[in-house]
Amino acid sequence: MGTIIRAAITGTGSYLPGKILTNADLEKMVETSDEWITTRTGVKERRQAAPNEAASDLGAEAARRALKQAKALPEEIDCLIVATISGDMPFPATACFIQHLIGAKNAAAFDISAACSGYIYALNIAKSFIETKTYKKVLVVAVDVLSRITDWSDRGTCVLFGDGAGAAVLEPTKDENGIISVYIGSDGSATDLLKLPGGGSRLPVSAETLKNRDHYIKMSGNEIFKLAVTAMINSAQQAMEMAHLKCEDIKLLIPHQANIRIIEATAKRLKLPVERIFVNIQKYGNMSGATTAIGLDEAFREGRIKKGDYVELVAFGAGLTWGAAVIKWGI
Ligand code: UT7
Repeated sequence: MGTIIRAAITGTGSYLPGKILTNADLEKMVETSDEWITTRTGVKERRQAAPNEAASDLGAEAARRALKQAKALPEEIDCLIVATISGDMPFPATACFIQHLIGAKNAAAFDISAACSGYIYALNIAKSFIETKTYKKVLVVAVDVLSRITDWSDRGTCVLFGDGAGAAVLEPTKDENGIISVYIGSDGSATDLLKLPGGGSRLPVSAETLKNRDHYIKMSGNEIFKLAVTAMINSAQQAMEMAHLKCEDIKLLIPHQANIRIIEATAKRLKLPVERIFVNIQKYGNMSGATTAIGLDEAFREGRIKKGDYVELVAFGAGLTWGAAVIKWGI
């Protein structure tokens, strides 16, 4: 009988651009108030990439930090997976830009598009590559520069989003630490609820699409909200069941940070006390797939997860897509 190989996270990193956009700044841009944004969403401020920074620049910096912690060299990486919905260009893949920037010259490189659930989807792919011995060192980067696809005249969306990148190095391990379970799912009947309609093969860029602001995020916030809570709870439970664990076994839940009310409703239904829920929405807003990647890196660096702890990521987003991952922390 062969020994079970698990995919362990051996290093994490993140990068947040320096520019901070506060609720007070937004009050000058659209008809809103710090009070409305704080109570309805939980966001106080968010980060914005500099004009010369694209997704690959943010992602490369997060990747360098994860490699440093894993004590891995860029040329040792066999595969680079980037989760993004706001890449440098529609093609080539942002993964190829990052591969070049960090010098991961021996890596296969590709992007995946699963919006806010992208990091969890990418971890699942990386886990499979490692468990099947296809690759030994896989680098996962989740990055979004949502400020570039946000309609700054739409108060229903512009107060929510921010820019950032998170990364993780995954390697095989024969000990019991690593990614224990990943659950992912989707519902394509709801593609209309959250989308960027223009610029693809359905609606190529034209004077008309520009006039209609079709190159910006369109969201039915209210409808997404209700579906989000159900999907987050269900995903978190599914991944726990797959790992044969119960809520009380989870040291820290790192939920996608779309709205503090979604996070609180999820925590309440899972009966998880506040000290076991990771929240950073007040600092960064919703950074799509990068949110859970940055959350995992921050939680580790803040000492909130230690070797041997079970940590769970859970997310939900456009597609619709959703997912959760249970990790036995090994660093
Ligand atoms: O990343 C994963 C996918 N995304 C999500 O999960 C987002 C889920 N949705 C949400 O977080 C919330 O639905 C929002 C924060 C987007 C909106 O909150 P809401 O409590 O659902 O508000 P609403 O859309 O029902 O709007 C309530 C009122 C409206 O005014 P009227 O029609 O009642 O007069 C809006 O026009 O609030 C108004 N409103 C605002 N007021 C001040 C909407 N945005 C703003 C704003 N400032 N920024």
